[in-house]
Amino acid sequence: MKDFEKEKMLAAQEAVKFIESDMIVGLGTGSTAFYAINEIGKLVKNGFKIKAVATSNESAALAASLNIDVIDINAVDSIDITIDGADEFTSEFLMIKGGGGALFREKVVAAMTKKEIIIADSSKKVAVLGKFKVPVEVVPFAYQYVLRQLAVINGKGTVRMKNDTQYLTDQGNFIIDADFGLISDPKALAAKLNEIEGVAAHGLFIGLTHTIIMGERDTTIIFK
Ligand code: A5P
Repeated sequence: MKDFEKEKMLAAQEAVKFIESDMIVGLGTGSTAFYAINEIGKLVKNGFKIKAVATSNESAALAASLNIDVIDINAVDSIDITIDGADEFTSEFLMIKGGGGALFREKVVAAMTKKEIIIADSSKKVAVLGKFKVPVEVVPFAYQYVLRQLAVINGKGTVRMKNDTQYLTDQGNFIIDADFGLISDPKALAAKLNEIEGVAAHGLFIGLTHTIIMGERDTTIIFK
């Protein structure tokens, strides 16, 4: 049986090898990024001078607990390297992110990043995206409208809940998890989602990733 936690850790350890001292580093969110942040903490302990921007309050808190210098994203023009996770990816570098609810910040950070590295265990690799529902972050004012617009493009949306109330992102937005079935043309779907007013960000990440590092049993596979 595969040990996905080990695969996540191996991918994270491989990814941090790309970090050099004095870099500005983007910190991802989720259970795989967790391993990377811990590895970055070790680099800092060993004297690396790193400034970090975080994709969630949770990652910022973890980083701070490891003495990683977390700075405001608006204090930097670009980010040298970001290490983040994914919910699904294909070998064509199409992916779904946002299972952990941090997609808005993850997308902004990815857009500002010179080298975006996605780390994942081998369960995340798929031939076609869409088994995992596409998270869509929406401004609460517009959520019923967005649900209807998603239905128009054949997406069955469900508002994400937590403790009997709507889950709130770090921006105070809602998430709609949208089921489109298998997505034959992710670029076309992304373009349609971009057009819906009230959508702050959606979980289709296309053209934002430079390298994918996947754990595979006792080793890693690098997609470039
Ligand atoms: C956070 O919003 C997400 O985009 C995560 O990067 C993604 O859900 C992967 O999470 P895990 O590493 O926990 O699977």
